[in-house]
Amino acid sequence: MKETAKIFDQIVQERRSVRVYDIEAEFDHEAVQRSIERAILAPNSSNMQLWEFYRIKSEEAKKQVAWMCMNQKAAKTAKELVVIVGRRDLWKKRQRALVQEMKRVYPDPYSKQAKRAMNYYENLIPKYYWSDWFGLWGMIKKCIYFFAGLKRPMIRHGNNADLRISVHKSAALAAQNFMMSMKAEGYDTCPMEGMDSLRIKRFLKLPRKAEVVMVIGCGPGAEGGIYSDRFRVPNSEVILEV
Ligand SMILES: Cc1cc2nc3c(=O)[nH]c(=O)nc-3n(C[C@H](O)[C@H](O)[C@H](O)COP(=O)(O)O)c2cc1C
Repeated sequence: MKETAKIFDQIVQERRSVRVYDIEAEFDHEAVQRSIERAILAPNSSNMQLWEFYRIKSEEAKKQVAWMCMNQKAAKTAKELVVIVGRRDLWKKRQRALVQEMKRVYPDPYSKQAKRAMNYYENLIPKYYWSDWFGLWGMIKKCIYFFAGLKRPMIRHGNNADLRISVHKSAALAAQNFMMSMKAEGYDTCPMEGMDSLRIKRFLKLPRKAEVVMVIGCGPGAEGGIYSDRFRVPNSEVILEV
């Protein structure tokens, strides 16, 4: 095994969901900043980066958000809370940034790569992310995919629920990068979906289409902060060969 794999394995093995943090211990808030900067390097759908990371640092804000996390100890005792938010509504802004980036990467607009990239970001992306209030466009897309897919492989996701899943998938990958990085920095984390996402959304003054993906409590784990031994069902049940 390579040295890097050994280090990575150690981080993976040592990361646990820690529910109680040591409030007396020192905490380097810069580790959170570094870890979020690593989180945003996670793979994400079409590189649209439809996410935001809210750092809840002040005692007052932490108290309020912990209450919205059903007063879980993992939130109440955390040195800092990070709220990961999916921002499907920001697709136009991200699309514009990516079009600019493609122009920079492929300066010759007539090159094959430039045409392909521009078609993707200027033509296909709006068709994928645009939605109407009633979800009609999503239903039309599903029908198109169904008929086109009768004869050949076809993308199947396209309605509002699919879009939400796509944004949550990417944000969850960022969340995992974040938690791994925090462990590498010597700190513990606990991801939480046991929270009042509506209240947190209001607290953060987020628009209607923004969605709280998860809240992550961070800090130096306290004794007894890990509630039980690690349990996973047997590998043979989940690792399958075809
Ligand atoms: C999406 C998600 C939501 C979770 N929500 C909570 C939660 O609200 N409260 C909690 O104590 N743990 C929560 N967890 C932690 C899981 O319970 C934990 O990851 C699982 O039991 C496996 O334990 P391990 O992380 O120590 O390996 C959540 C984990 C994930 C991935």
